[in-house]
Amino acid sequence: MQLAFWATLGGPVVHIELDGQGPRYGQLIRAFKDAILTGRLPAGARLPASRSLASELELSRNTVLAAYEQLQAEGFLVGRVGSGSYVAPIALGKSASRRIAAQPVAPLSAFARRALAASEGAFQGARAPMRLRYNLQYGLPLANPALASAWRREVSRAAEEADPDYPDPQGLPALREQICDYLARRRGVQAEPDDVLVVSGTQQAFALAARVLLTSGDGVALEDPHYRGARQVFLAQGARVHGCRVDAEGLVPQALPARARLAVVTPSHQFPTGALLPLARRMALLEWAATRRAWLVEDDYDGEFRYAGRPLAALKSLDRDDRVIYIGSFSKALFPALRLGYMVIPNALRRPLVAAKWLEDRGCSALEQAALARFIAGGGFERHLRRAATALRLRRTAMLNGLARHAAGATEVADSSAGMHVTAWLHGVSHADSERLVAHARSRGLGLYTLAPYCLRPPPRPGLLLGYAGLSPGDVEAAMRLLGRCLRELGLGGTPALAPSG
Ligand SMILES: Cc1ncc(COP(=O)(O)O)c(C=O)c1O
Repeated sequence: MQLAFWATLGGPVVHIELDGQGPRYGQLIRAFKDAILTGRLPAGARLPASRSLASELELSRNTVLAAYEQLQAEGFLVGRVGSGSYVAPIALGKSASRRIAAQPVAPLSAFARRALAASEGAFQGARAPMRLRYNLQYGLPLANPALASAWRREVSRAAEEADPDYPDPQGLPALREQICDYLARRRGVQAEPDDVLVVSGTQQAFALAARVLLTSGDGVALEDPHYRGARQVFLAQGARVHGCRVDAEGLVPQALPARARLAVVTPSHQFPTGALLPLARRMALLEWAATRRAWLVEDDYDGEFRYAGRPLAALKSLDRDDRVIYIGSFSKALFPALRLGYMVIPNALRRPLVAAKWLEDRGCSALEQAALARFIAGGGFERHLRRAATALRLRRTAMLNGLARHAAGATEVADSSAGMHVTAWLHGVSHADSERLVAHARSRGLGLYTLAPYCLRPPPRPGLLLGYAGLSPGDVEAAMRLLGRCLRELGLGGTPALAPSG
């Protein structure tokens, strides 16, 4: 929550932001201290009256008074009876704020500097709760009360039986067995528990692969557009990243570079365009990897959810030369807060990858792993997948119908019959106009996101990445109606401009 006020009449506006962590009283104290210590609230500045601050932030006046008293007791504020609270004269040194802003540069490693650059503008800590009426952000999970109660039961049973010692860093054998059964049943992958490494999500799988396979300057091929989380990891590792062309059938194998240590691919559901890679191209990818002794990292992030036809087996199922590192995640199949995923590792990489995982964190939480093994073994996971697929299909249908009804002239859907998002290319709209559309929609309470952050080179036309999992079907329909209205208000996509309504 943000509060803006003039600390001195006629002076600059001061923004105070509450961090949303813990009681409001503590949040207020931290926010004011930060503003004082960074010099944004100078000595002598007057704080808002407790009554008006309380009403603006929807807090009780006592909370504000208690925070002011604490700040006074610690010497940050001085109070003048009847005339309010003022920032105390504190010797900050002239460059306090500049020192804080400049701090991270000098003593950091090359990795840290690259990590900061790679996450510039992308890392926001925990996803900030946004005050948007309809948020079409990709990756928001499907709200599912039945899953929450089933999961609570499994965790509490697992806790009763938990072994308190460090777990096997490769993953609990019981979970690795369940993963192998699941992969054979649903993804056509034949793996032994020994081939599986349990990790804390795809992100850790990319990081381990990067650490084990790359030295600074090595080439990495990414589809373009691609998943940003992959690009960030490989850039932070010092890789030279090549973007490879993607068309309506997915990655174009001829676009792969002659020299690269590895390529990250999403053959079952190209991210984000949704294309399903045909068999001939899969075979070409495998040939490329075998002849160049390169590795293919297969990110099978949402292979569980296909709404038309049977799911196609994973690329890993065709891997005769053992060049494919397969990655699965429970972020989409269950929920991202779980932070569990797995790799199916080629023989030659098993020892180094397990060693890297052991060094990194000594293994994933045994409790969570045991609960998940129970959940899969008891059939709860498959039941959940069936229910989730039905719920997602309804949202997806609402989105496709809504786009056809309200935004047909301006959008072309890259239909994929899978997953938790739709990619819509924009017609008759420039890249600059797509950014205007996003800003305008936001002002109307609609969270829209362009494809630009997922591309190394600007795509020929702008597009939107529309996530539907976080909204009910009714809200998805309302969001599409609002999208149509925003397009008309801006006169985009061949629509005559419409005067904005209140
Ligand atoms: C393409 C892609 N890969 C992987 C993931 C999952 O990442 P993780 O397992 O780290 O949550 C996502 C999640 O949004 C994704 O979109």
